[in-house]
Amino acid sequence: MKFFFVLILIVSASQLAAQHSSIFPQPTNVEYTTEQFVFNGQLALDSTKVPKKLFEYIQKSFGRIHAIHLEASSAKNANIQLQQVNTLVYTEGYQLSVTNSGIEIQYSSYQSLCNAFQSLNQLFQNQTKLAGIRISDQPAFAYRGVHLDCSRHFFTIAELEGFIDQIARLKFNKFHWHLTDDQGWRIEIKKYPKLTTIGAWRDSTLIGHFSKQPIEYEHQKYGGFYTQEEAKELIEYARIRGIEIIPEIEMPGHARAALAAYPELSCTEKQLPVVGTWGVFDDVFCSQEKTRTFLKDVLDEVIAIFPSQVIHIGGDESPKVRWEACPKCKAVMNENQLHSTHELQSFFIRDIEKHVNSKGRTIIGWDEILEGGLAPNAQVMSWQGMEGGIAAAKQKHQVVMTPTSYCYLDYYQSGHPSEPLAIGGYLPLEKVYQFDPTKGIENEYKRYILGGQANLWTEYLPTMSAVQYNLFPRLLAMSEVLWTKEDQRKSYPEFVQGLIKYQFPYYDSMNINFSTACLEPKLLFSKSEKGLMLEAVSNIEHTKASIELIFENPALICELPLIKAETFSIGDYPDTSNHSKLLLYPLPISASFDLEVKVTKKGDLLRVNKYEITTHLALGKPITFDTPPNEKYNANGDLGLTDGIVGKKPWKGNQWLGFTEDTVRFRLDLGKKIKFGHVKLGYLNDPGSWIYAPEKCVIEVSKNGRKWKKTTVPDNDTLSENFYLHEKLKARHLRITVINKEKIPEGMTGAGFTPWTFLNELIITR
Ligand code: ACM
Ligand code: ZN
Repeated sequence: MKFFFVLILIVSASQLAAQHSSIFPQPTNVEYTTEQFVFNGQLALDSTKVPKKLFEYIQKSFGRIHAIHLEASSAKNANIQLQQVNTLVYTEGYQLSVTNSGIEIQYSSYQSLCNAFQSLNQLFQNQTKLAGIRISDQPAFAYRGVHLDCSRHFFTIAELEGFIDQIARLKFNKFHWHLTDDQGWRIEIKKYPKLTTIGAWRDSTLIGHFSKQPIEYEHQKYGGFYTQEEAKELIEYARIRGIEIIPEIEMPGHARAALAAYPELSCTEKQLPVVGTWGVFDDVFCSQEKTRTFLKDVLDEVIAIFPSQVIHIGGDESPKVRWEACPKCKAVMNENQLHSTHELQSFFIRDIEKHVNSKGRTIIGWDEILEGGLAPNAQVMSWQGMEGGIAAAKQKHQVVMTPTSYCYLDYYQSGHPSEPLAIGGYLPLEKVYQFDPTKGIENEYKRYILGGQANLWTEYLPTMSAVQYNLFPRLLAMSEVLWTKEDQRKSYPEFVQGLIKYQFPYYDSMNINFSTACLEPKLLFSKSEKGLMLEAVSNIEHTKASIELIFENPALICELPLIKAETFSIGDYPDTSNHSKLLLYPLPISASFDLEVKVTKKGDLLRVNKYEITTHLALGKPITFDTPPNEKYNANGDLGLTDGIVGKKPWKGNQWLGFTEDTVRFRLDLGKKIKFGHVKLGYLNDPGSWIYAPEKCVIEVSKNGRKWKKTTVPDNDTLSENFYLHEKLKARHLRITVINKEKIPEGMTGAGFTPWTFLNELIITR
């Protein structure tokens, strides 16, 4: 009888083994059993094996998240039993099982114990019982980091504690604290008090995007810094949660805040302010010995505060123009037989490394430290791509991979116009989930890749709520690719289902901001005989996408009777469907209304996207491009200019058609000969992104698509960024040629290159 019972248990367990648990990142091995542990809101932990501060942390978080009371008890009375073992392969691995009689954890180190508790904390679904489970878990990578820029915007220690709680929950083990930059020096250095009395404060901050013209500033003093005591408290707070803090002191570039405090450390010695805008600045630390001594003094204090083995010395984006013109730098080059300013930077970093090494620590720097030769013991943080990291690994240096294309969480996560302002770029959740820090690396060098890191620069993130929005849920994807080996990982759709089921409710309950961009339905456009067919499709299983029209002006409903009729008949899909359709008719007037696309799950609203639709005569009429748009900017293909969605300014990416040629030509077929009197074509002028206003637009019309007749020259309204043609015409075909500058002129951003031409939308009305 007993044998029979055991057999049933094993069969059920293996049947259920493929299930994914509620734990993020996904543990290496999970097996469910039919056992169950009933504890009714009360747990007792064998506290003799847990350091007091860790016990208090766990007790508080079990209570706060689940209202579960955890008490310290002897091993005999505990229902959470701990056993330290030395057999776990990785120092951070652990085993956790839930049986009828309680919870058992096997661990090998403090770190592994922290990880086991994080998993247990995510297993609780209620306060009374836990399903039987056996977990055996270990990380794929030893370095799992999150970086936060506290210079561009300043976050309080209390905010950083909340941030650390969240990254610890996802089993990250490093916090890369970006403490200095052009816009503010954030760590107290006792020997150089002006770093924080002057360098921690700026007089103004840029409003809006860096590339926006005209430039505007908010003229308000902004800043702050962390005292050494506060930094030590945060280090201890993080340590208790299994996280090591790695401080970053930028050199020789990104130094304007320090130079505002001590101008004698620059090449020109000119007094310049702490910067209130974003970008890369020419004034950097001079390479002279006096500056290097200053930085060594700073690092001595930093090393005394931070126990991390590794100290980040920056090294990125350091222009050489001041060094090229500086007699002090020239003298350093002559004395040390250096042939280029790249070699000078390498000399600078090697000198700093020698000092840091003499204190028993290691330096890590951004991949520019490869230029001119890598310092002998330096680790490399590869951000410009994977190439720098691969080159460093081949030189047998340790590497942390943080390529912009997978790891820069300051990029947009959706192209939807409602997204808050970001620096640019596009990094959706799914792309983060594809990150592999060892991709393209020969096997023999893989061991030099310590792991990866998510970077969060905060130029456009002034609050912790904005920081959270950019972190979550992309940080969950990052945690899983760094913790869970690829063959154990969920598929992307399973990962998103897990977010909806376990993680979004958690972030909601903790009042933590997060993005639901990953639930965005696809909006598909196709031409139909009658007009433009719009289809909203949810790509999340068990959800439904629906389209609703919103008319702010009820009179419009009467003016657009055909839209109304079709919406209600065609949009009426059953609840099980994941898509919904809408037919829009071309109209002789230009009328705008809003359209909401909603994704729901069993009636619960998961995501709403709002689009402003403008109807006109060309709506849904196909375009043939003689000059094809660049593949990065060609949303909605041949309907891209006639889909009713007018490109917004400032642009967020996916509504605009972008062309790399200086002359763009395309043809529109209206289907039949019609009368019209107005043509409008929108364009963009965003020099910061190398997108320049076209100089001219030529419109030709034809009845048969063979013989073309020029219209009058359209007006170029540079203020509204539109070409306008007002002429009574009758035609079926239009041929439009847009002419831009051949090359971007000297003195403008991107000088010498062909400008981008961005167009949207082509609106034709009676
Ligand atoms: C960097 O993003 N400049 C490291
Ligand atoms: Zn100099």
